Amino acid sequence: MNPESCKAWQTLDALAAKRGRIDTLLRTEPDRARQFTFEQCGLRLDVSKTAITAESMRCLVQLARETGVAERMNAMRTGEAINTTENRAVLHIALRDLDGHLVTDYGIDKHKAVLAQLSRMRELSDDIRSGQWRGFSGKRIRHVVNIGIGGSDLGPKMVCEALRHMHSSELTVHFASTIDETHLPNILRELDPEETLFSISSKTFTTQETMYNARNARQWVLDHFSNSDAIASHFIAVSSNTEAAVAFGIREQNLLSFWEWVGGRYSLWSTIGFPICAAIGYAQFEELLRGAHALDAHFFTAEFEENLPVLLALCGLWHNNFCHHHSLGVIPYNDALGLLPMYLQQLDMESNGKSVRLDGETVTYATGPVVWGQSGSNGQHAFFQLLHQGTDVIPLEFVFAVNRDTSNPEQHRALLGNMLAQSNALMRGEEADAEHRHLHYAGDKPSISIALDQLTPSRLGALIALYEHKVFVQGAVWNINSFDQWGVQLGKRLANQIGTDFSRPNTDMDTSTQATIAWIHDQLS
Ligand code: F6P
Repeated sequence: MNPESCKAWQTLDALAAKRGRIDTLLRTEPDRARQFTFEQCGLRLDVSKTAITAESMRCLVQLARETGVAERMNAMRTGEAINTTENRAVLHIALRDLDGHLVTDYGIDKHKAVLAQLSRMRELSDDIRSGQWRGFSGKRIRHVVNIGIGGSDLGPKMVCEALRHMHSSELTVHFASTIDETHLPNILRELDPEETLFSISSKTFTTQETMYNARNARQWVLDHFSNSDAIASHFIAVSSNTEAAVAFGIREQNLLSFWEWVGGRYSLWSTIGFPICAAIGYAQFEELLRGAHALDAHFFTAEFEENLPVLLALCGLWHNNFCHHHSLGVIPYNDALGLLPMYLQQLDMESNGKSVRLDGETVTYATGPVVWGQSGSNGQHAFFQLLHQGTDVIPLEFVFAVNRDTSNPEQHRALLGNMLAQSNALMRGEEADAEHRHLHYAGDKPSISIALDQLTPSRLGALIALYEHKVFVQGAVWNINSFDQWGVQLGKRLANQIGTDFSRPNTDMDTSTQATIAWIHDQLS
């Protein structure tokens, strides 16, 4: 179906066209802050600094109903192959359904398999953290280097960064992802091969970047030990393609696996979370799962009117489809959450950057927005100028956690005060007289805030699940497949066609590409 044909869509178009200023709404609706703030699982979602009214919110909820969001939620929960182009179920929620109560129809075998892999991951990470696992020369492992990219990198890296305060002091976790030949060596420069364990993380175990880095890591270990038996003590792999991992030389007992029904960008809850587990320990990793599960339970049971992921998704639709703001800035106001925007870029843009509906028709409305962002404390001295006085309106999501354990509460309040000042300035603006037009702020710039009452694994799990379900709900309304990523294939194919021999003209390529290949060849010769 085309969501534009829904009655609610048309009403929302009309409501958005005559929307009031946000500062006026806040002044004239005394109950607005309470009415548009929602709390669940330690998260607080505040959408009061948008132009959404009670009436437009009712229509947005109606749109979710008319487009069959509830049916799609049910299809996910019961293990239907909702990733239709790959004929796969989408069951990352099963990875955190530890008691097996929420995901009804995915079968006892899958549930058992999930628990079995978690338990293997726990044993492995316990061995490494306790020092029981020894390198080939008998030394304790002090460094874990995760080699992976996209979903096999961003989620674990973001969570490890967010929970750095809980890391073991005995072990440092590193992440090597890109094909840039300097990335891995820059990490390895400081490390002792005898104390280093590599985790090759790749769902497919074919990804070019990961395979280059994995081969280089293997060579680094071989160069040091001159003995291929050392590989078993310094390599593990996490993959759903266990055959390819074994063919690479990983011992079967050093393999963790997961399944095709876990999408790469939804996989941090699986054994892809191994670096998290190594850094903070299994018990805390399980807290992350439990926090996400609590949010899942809320998502699948709460009425849409108070359902956090649904509401966050609907606010995004309001800005994107009805106010025509197609960019979304995610601005963390804790350094610990600094990698959240990068993680969300994959989650949101790889999921909803689509222009064909499930029925094969081309969409006639905007789908996934451009997601970007970085630390607000830095950003307000850099790109915020454009947000305040530029020509585009860019809705923001401020994300922050209250740091209850801070040893410097005053400075922490200063950090959060700065965030509040930014959202306030964006919303209210400021008049200037005719002679000082450069001082004029138009204001009326919407922002949402998402707060964690503390930064624990459980709250972080809930936050990530909130965003996963937000993306899901938006995809459901847009009637697109949020779980495939065919758009990344052509570039991969062409990279293979271009290859690494730049000495010959590549006549398959356009003249511009050929000229650049020739120029690079000249520079390298
Ligand atoms: O190229 C995109 C992608 O397929 C992502 O969807 C995925 O997370 C990433 O590459 C890495 O894939 P893999 O885990 O199979 O190496």
